Amino acid sequence: MKLSVIGTGYVGLVAGTCFAESGNDVICVDIDAEKVERLRRGECPIYEPGLTDHLKKNTAEKRLTFTTDLGEAVRGTEVILLALPTPQSEDGSADLQHVLGVARQVGRLMNGYKIIVNKSTVPVGTADRVREVVDAETKHEFDVVSNPEFLKEGAAVNDFMKPERVVIGTRSQRALEVMQDLYAPFVRTGNPLIVMDERSAEMTKYASNSFLATKITFMNEIAGLCEQVGADIDMIRRGMGSDARIGSQFLFAGIGYGGSCFPKDVAALIKTSEDRGHPLQVLKAVDEANRRQKGRIVEKVRKHFHGELKGRTFAIWGLSFKPNTDDTREAPSLTVIDLLLKEGSVLRVFDPEAMEEMKRRIGSSVTYAAGNYDALQGAEALLVLTEWNEFRRPDFDRMKTLLKAPVIFDGRNIYDPRIMREKGFTYYGIGRGLIP
Ligand SMILES: NC(=O)c1ccc[n+]([C@@H]2O[C@H](COP(=O)([O-])OP(=O)(O)OC[C@H]3O[C@@H](n4cnc5c(N)ncnc54)[C@H](O)[C@@H]3O)[C@@H](O)[C@H]2O)c1
Repeated sequence: MKLSVIGTGYVGLVAGTCFAESGNDVICVDIDAEKVERLRRGECPIYEPGLTDHLKKNTAEKRLTFTTDLGEAVRGTEVILLALPTPQSEDGSADLQHVLGVARQVGRLMNGYKIIVNKSTVPVGTADRVREVVDAETKHEFDVVSNPEFLKEGAAVNDFMKPERVVIGTRSQRALEVMQDLYAPFVRTGNPLIVMDERSAEMTKYASNSFLATKITFMNEIAGLCEQVGADIDMIRRGMGSDARIGSQFLFAGIGYGGSCFPKDVAALIKTSEDRGHPLQVLKAVDEANRRQKGRIVEKVRKHFHGELKGRTFAIWGLSFKPNTDDTREAPSLTVIDLLLKEGSVLRVFDPEAMEEMKRRIGSSVTYAAGNYDALQGAEALLVLTEWNEFRRPDFDRMKTLLKAPVIFDGRNIYDPRIMREKGFTYYGIGRGLIP
């Protein structure tokens, strides 16, 4: 099949590469000419495990090509997938300018029947708006399909290759048959391809992300209470997670969710619900609690140092919003860094993959350490903000020689409070209220 993917970010690049890997000819389009140049050279602009190898292979075999020319892509392919940004607008709603703008151009450039597949996360009703916009520009036949993407950054290639489900929203039999054919190699082990109408598909994505954000926030709220009553959230997680109705995933307490999806998707669903006169109270509480959660670790630091953070040096391990990605969009680290800098603290930060991205975001307001141990030099405490594997079993004795004082604020509960005490650290986790 000949496909084009418009937008080569985390979703578009992974989708385009994986579709090429299953034998399709894929043209990827982006307005960022520098990115397109890098991709043509086989250079991967993002850190995503496994992606570079597939990218290089499919580029070399000419199944995967990159261009800034939307016309070439639209004219040369029947299936056009949109993987464009839908950032949060000031009022909380999803900004559809990229999706509708590209849809309009696609309409103008069409030279025959096309299937326009939306993979971006978009509010209910967007497929209808895309249809109207395209219809105003063309006399050719076309279908609009909603095909929300569920991949997780950090495991995106694997998620795309072996999706737990594929959701196809369309009422067109012709488009459905093409979509079923396209996804057949990815669901051959029996995972469901669920067919529904466009609106339900659009809502499925928002409901899924909002539910996951709620699950995380629920645990963070219980963790806060654990600290007050003297209970250990990690024990509670295990006790709860063994109930199949609850499930063991997404029960880890931490410093709040971030990333390019959960915060904006929760905000967008809240906005939709308010616009429709059916406000989702639970999501409003989730959004508010998550904002608070990001600052709670700084409150602990403040308390430990009796409110005096000015001039104190702190080490930070982890900047990306979660491990195995270089993505720092809406990362809790940004809130923590901002709060500590406002208090006049000096920060030495380290992340295995996100240092360049962070430099672009916050410049030289912090010191970028050469390694995780280097970050500890002269620091009065360590804050762990992302649970990268390499931080899980460090050399604690070496850490003690580098830190000015053996104090750890573990924002991801990667260390055992009892072991930390035995090793002579003052340890603060999230919801680890149990006094041994
Ligand atoms: N990142 C994720 O984990 C994830 C998962 C599921 C769904 N989504 C959704 O998928 C969509 C894309 O997310 P992303 O993280 O891949 O975004 P991204 O910001 O990483 O990538 C978007 C790409 O689109 C390009 N672009 C912007 N305007 C363009 C235009 N007019 N023509 C061509 N290219 C253009 C940008 O240059 C960029 O390369 C969003 O709606 C997001 O909510 C993201």
